[in-house]
Amino acid sequence: MATAEGVLSPPDATATDGLIGDGLAPFNPSGELVIDAALQLLSLTEKDLLFDLGCGDGRLLVQAALRTRSRGVGIEYDRKFADRAAAQVEGQGVQDLVTIQHGNALEADLSNATAAFVYLVPKGMAQLRGKLEGLLQRGGRVVTYIFSVPAMTPVQTVVVKGTRVMLYTAASLDQDAEEAPQCN
Ligand SMILES: C[S@@+](CC[C@H](N)C(=O)[O-])C[C@H]1O[C@@H](n2cnc3c(N)ncnc32)[C@H](O)[C@@H]1O
Repeated sequence: MATAEGVLSPPDATATDGLIGDGLAPFNPSGELVIDAALQLLSLTEKDLLFDLGCGDGRLLVQAALRTRSRGVGIEYDRKFADRAAAQVEGQGVQDLVTIQHGNALEADLSNATAAFVYLVPKGMAQLRGKLEGLLQRGGRVVTYIFSVPAMTPVQTVVVKGTRVMLYTAASLDQDAEEAPQCN
């Protein structure tokens, strides 16, 4: 349920019970303020290709395309939400920029990605860590919401109504990185 501030209640960090197969989080879409913060951290341009790994109803990719003309790929495990995301993309007229794939984020090919957004529970973050590390090594950016990438240091953290939106870059792979600045 959305609050007036546009922040939705986060899922339980361990709430993978009841998820089928490689389900790595329940559907719990990001609120408006979180999307604003994530897009600000990602600093997208029309040259970017943004992946949302577990895209839900596609709202972040739609906003990214509308605001910055960045291209996007959404990967969604649950067909119901993948269909909903595809309908949103079509409805908002950004089908030339955003593609929705019904599939498993664990099998995503990020070789052409320049940026990724991930809002999955810690099990998902851990399983995707290798792919995210590869993206960062190629100069990409990663933003996560609430849950961090294991053994990486965010270069910037924005706190939105008590929940964290974190930016990772290649500098995050340096375990000696200085403590990241935090903005409210
Ligand atoms: C917490 S929601 C976030 C949705 C969207 N990224 C947002 O921020 O509004 C997580 C989404 O990931 C999807 N998901 C879970 N496991 C997945 C997997 N292995 N591959 C692709 N999508 C997955 C769920 O169905 C759900 O829609």
